[in-house]
Amino acid sequence: MAATPNDDRERVREASPIEEVIGKYVDLPQRGRVWKGLCPFHDDGRPSMDVDPERNTFKCWSCNEGGDVFSFIQKFEKVDFREALTILADRANIELRPQFQDPQIQIQRDEDLVFLDRTATWFTQQLKTAEGRPALEYLKQRGFSDSCIRRFRIGYAPPGWNSLEGSIRQHVDNPKDTIQRAVELGLLKTSAEVKTYDAFRDRIIFPIIRPGKGQYRESGEVIAFGGRHLGHPEAVSQGAANPPKYINSPESRVYSKGNLLYGFQQGQEEIRRRRHVVVCEGYTDVMMAHQHGVSNVVGVLGTALTTKSVQFISRAAQCVDLLFDGDSAGRRAAAKSCEHFLGTDVEVKVVLLEEGTDPCDLLASEGGKDRFQTLLKTGTASLNFLISEILSLHGFSLGDAQPEVVSKTRRELSERVLMPLSKKGQVLLESGVREVARLTGWSESSILMDFQVDRKVQLERDSSRNKYRGTPSDSPSDFPDRPDHTPYFEQNGAPLGTSSFEDPNATVAVIDESVSDLTLEPDSITSELIPFRSVDPAVIAEYAMTEAAILKTIIRDESYMRPMLRLAPVERWTSPLHRELGLLFQNKGKVPELLEIEDPDLKSLLLDLWSRNTRDDEFLDQDQKINFASRTLAEYLMTALERKKDDFMRNDEKSALVTNVNECINMLNNDKFSFSNPSQADEIINRFELDHH
Ligand code: CTP
Ligand code: MN
Repeated sequence: MAATPNDDRERVREASPIEEVIGKYVDLPQRGRVWKGLCPFHDDGRPSMDVDPERNTFKCWSCNEGGDVFSFIQKFEKVDFREALTILADRANIELRPQFQDPQIQIQRDEDLVFLDRTATWFTQQLKTAEGRPALEYLKQRGFSDSCIRRFRIGYAPPGWNSLEGSIRQHVDNPKDTIQRAVELGLLKTSAEVKTYDAFRDRIIFPIIRPGKGQYRESGEVIAFGGRHLGHPEAVSQGAANPPKYINSPESRVYSKGNLLYGFQQGQEEIRRRRHVVVCEGYTDVMMAHQHGVSNVVGVLGTALTTKSVQFISRAAQCVDLLFDGDSAGRRAAAKSCEHFLGTDVEVKVVLLEEGTDPCDLLASEGGKDRFQTLLKTGTASLNFLISEILSLHGFSLGDAQPEVVSKTRRELSERVLMPLSKKGQVLLESGVREVARLTGWSESSILMDFQVDRKVQLERDSSRNKYRGTPSDSPSDFPDRPDHTPYFEQNGAPLGTSSFEDPNATVAVIDESVSDLTLEPDSITSELIPFRSVDPAVIAEYAMTEAAILKTIIRDESYMRPMLRLAPVERWTSPLHRELGLLFQNKGKVPELLEIEDPDLKSLLLDLWSRNTRDDEFLDQDQKINFASRTLAEYLMTALERKKDDFMRNDEKSALVTNVNECINMLNNDKFSFSNPSQADEIINRFELDHH
């Protein structure tokens, strides 16, 4: 009877006792009928996750996460169902029905793997011959143990031009096909004169192995090779004067470089257990680390980590240490690798090695393991590292004010740091801005403002649609992190459309969407919207900041919505997204439920503002929390009153009015003051006509 997909699932489920599977990830002592452990899906202080083997389920009483063994793997490894099924099937050594796999390709792949595995074995045998002796001695002299050499299946390619080829011809039934295969997989090369010859000659061979299934479950699948010459110039019998230190298999139908990490096969258990990976540059570094029991070390193949390998790492680990050479190539590779991690929840640190420090030799030296561990502790957080690298790339130093340096640095920071972070959400963008500010000494609002300008220009370039909210990444940003001190109506006093609009010195082109006609004085705009305008970007950023602060205050206490919006009418807001959310609040007369909002951008803005309120709360005590909205409203009122007072005095109004205003300001200014109810604020607005702009 033919198996159905459900059979696979049930077979795997049966072979994956949930307490055993979850027990591999967290400590899970049995407590009566259920097993209890720390929930890995939230910051759990005491074991609040129950695993119930009878029902085959898990459940966290604290964060409510729960499900069966597949959903646990999906959630933990951040994979889809199919991948979770594969992981568990591998674990239980169950062969899944192939999914729509072309049988021809499957057969070819199987044969490739058999050939590569045999070839790896053949290389290891050559290491034990007389010819291989210098290679083995070299490895010994570098400090490698026999068991390490075995574990990594290190081998030797003899010096002859046809050693491998000869062996194939001798031992294989249909040498023609196999030689063709060897050419396709990069082990033999072809040339007009000699037809085929060995690609690796007189080199130590490092097979590149990845985790495998079925018969390769234990050993992994060999999919490529790296070959190092023996180091001593006299041992180089290549003919060429300067042979490359390493040659590596070309990419092939079974091998694509970017996806692989050297040593992952051997270290995967330790990596999954510790949720921590150390990334090195060299094959030898990885081997020596494993030899010393530090087996969560992997090697990059190529110069830097790729998006793919980063995805792979982030599934397996929570912390990553990048150990790179301190020379310019190493720093570049480290920075590039950090970029791929931006915005993931992996905690990444970079350690740059001083010139002459080789992790392999360091580990092999006296007390090497401790020195290695100590070295790892010196890492710099990836965001800090990446920003610092960009700064030093442009020769920027703190306090530097050379305009070209500053502008180049700013642009690159926007592009390589802030842009990718902003795509992952407001909170991450803010953390990026904060770090840039810390390392450059620039103000957060100016960094953000520049970024917004860059982004708008880029968006305009990217999209001919000229539509503001096309992709999720282009929601407007704002940065009201410090107490929002510049009230809206005061800025309104310096209308965008007049002074800054026509400022001949304002050189930055800003796309107009965020400065819609609603924000401009009617007489300052022509009837057509002009796509590019010179606008002081500071004004835009400051507005957006205040708008977010108003929204945040309303979210805290929606009863203040009416007075708030009277002081700062939504229709005048500059940021389209803020304005839309403000209008929604206003139309509903309350802060809507998330479910009531259809637009995903508005939804995520609301969530964002929410989470920022929560974050602000961390810095407030109980009283401050309760009074926060009230204080904010009081401050806005005070600023409006100050403006009014100026008006009164300028127009020679009666001094009694000024006295009244002053009294009111004094009342609001008292820290102990809070509104007994919102209509108290309305009364003040009415009395002094604060909403007549
Ligand atoms: N590499 C390469 N091709 C080269 C040089 C280096 O592919 N021409 C890769 C290899 O994967 C190598 C890694 O970059 O392992 C790091 O290079 P290096 O530190 O020079 O080599 P190690 O393997 O560390 O060798 P050793 O410590 O013996 O110098
Ligand atoms: Mn090295």
